[in-house]
Amino acid sequence: ARTRRYTFNVTMATVTRLCATRSIPTVNGRFPGPKIVVREGDRLIVQVHNNINNNVTFHWHGVRQVRSGWADGPSFITQCPIRPGQSYAYNFRIIGQRGTLWWHAHFSWLRATLYGPLVILPPLGVPYPFPKPDREVPLMLGEWFNADPEAVIRQALQTGGGPNVSDAYTFNGLPGPTYNACSAGDTFRLRVRPGRTYMLRLVNAALNDELFFAVANHTLTVVGADASYVKPFTAATLVISPGQTMDVLLTAAAATPPSPAYAIAVAPYTNTVGTFDNTTAVAALEYAPQAALRGLPLPALPLYNDTGAVANFSANFRSLASAQYPARVPRTVDRKFFFAVGLGADPCPSRVNGTCQGPNGTRFAASMNNVSFTMPKTSLLQAHYQRRYSGVLTANFPAMPPMTFNYTGTPPNNTFVTHGTRVVPLRYNTTVEVVLQDTSILGAESHPLHLHGYDFYVVGTGFGNYDANNDTAKYNLVDPVQRNTISVPTAGWVAIRFVADNPGVWIMHCHLDVHLSWGLAMAWLVNDGPLPNQKLPPPPSDIPKC
Ligand code: C2O
Repeated sequence: ARTRRYTFNVTMATVTRLCATRSIPTVNGRFPGPKIVVREGDRLIVQVHNNINNNVTFHWHGVRQVRSGWADGPSFITQCPIRPGQSYAYNFRIIGQRGTLWWHAHFSWLRATLYGPLVILPPLGVPYPFPKPDREVPLMLGEWFNADPEAVIRQALQTGGGPNVSDAYTFNGLPGPTYNACSAGDTFRLRVRPGRTYMLRLVNAALNDELFFAVANHTLTVVGADASYVKPFTAATLVISPGQTMDVLLTAAAATPPSPAYAIAVAPYTNTVGTFDNTTAVAALEYAPQAALRGLPLPALPLYNDTGAVANFSANFRSLASAQYPARVPRTVDRKFFFAVGLGADPCPSRVNGTCQGPNGTRFAASMNNVSFTMPKTSLLQAHYQRRYSGVLTANFPAMPPMTFNYTGTPPNNTFVTHGTRVVPLRYNTTVEVVLQDTSILGAESHPLHLHGYDFYVVGTGFGNYDANNDTAKYNLVDPVQRNTISVPTAGWVAIRFVADNPGVWIMHCHLDVHLSWGLAMAWLVNDGPLPNQKLPPPPSDIPKC
């Protein structure tokens, strides 16, 4: 194992997209940001210098951060923000993970432009459990805003309404020809040779959209997700939620095919009650260089609200559960939680200026078990390390909704939310099960829930009401997929299990940034174990102060 060092200079840079030029926050002047490559077992040190006129932090999305919570990065959870002119070195090891992850800013909506791939290769000499691809290509799906995303969310929070939607979906930062004539020059082109196999390291870095992904005339073989291998399966269309990653093999046609190029396409999957961008964005899979983009054969994509297609796709994921890559699924659980997850409306509090443009003159809020998360003013991990909880957090996040939750498909009457920085304290090594149930208070909607500090096993899922008696018996405890982000299905539920063996404070939140801004988050406070190697080490000396 080696130590790999990177330097991130956060600077403003001028970029042109959709024929408009804008100054955006970047890492080292690049958009998307630099690719990080490590091997499993390596130490990674990323020295960040903040040279923009805003706070920033970085999160290594999906990295387990075993006893290195100080490097996890969510602002006000594991650290105070890095202020303008300040620096901080993220220092952590990659343990027991291989595949594709990514990094992104974790302050406000800065991740709109501050993101990049994090590739974890197996240890030297250890092969992939699938045929070695001829080439590997990171492909980051994103969203481009013509406006400043910071202004977009600030305005939404002030008025209590929904934010403006983005102006384009992007492939490695490029929108492609669907948007306007001059954006055709900004098309991602992947040149392939007949018969060769390519591994696409896919990341959904979009702020607020789950995406369908397909390549015309080509089948995709999924071999990994969220830096865990899966039993390979083929699919014509993938579904990838914000935060999720997928390693996918694509074999080019054996002989030069009839068309010199085929469309790589993304389109949104949503049941949102608000507006969204329903464009199909395209990139080019080219057998000949600089192929014409006009008349590019397009793949057939499901309708934007095809929840059945999403469920069918999700059902394919199984972990390898082999001797070399065993599935360590907890068979029994110490603590069971049921979280009702959804959007709601909040009476216009007086601290909100403006007119409250949410439903019926209220403002939008999002919650788990009717608690809308309030970002603290200081780092929860720091408060925990010093055992100074008073005025920062309360250890009373509810294990169940305040009223018995009954999913009926129509709005239940318990739509109120309370606000607070409430956490669930856990003893070291507690085995946890969480059933996440979509409440559909403002209409059915799926929520990609992301847990920091852990991978979890997805042991069950279904539509309608979770039924503790019947559904638990049907859990997959043999080869469930291991992930760090899972969508709570539209009008349904998903059950996850993990062992709380990583001490620290770990946020679990919806990876739709607008829902996170509306409070769809909670945190687990995992206490130290009795042994020295079960304790959270002290903070690094350069950790930012609030
Ligand atoms: Cu990818 Cu808390 O985030």
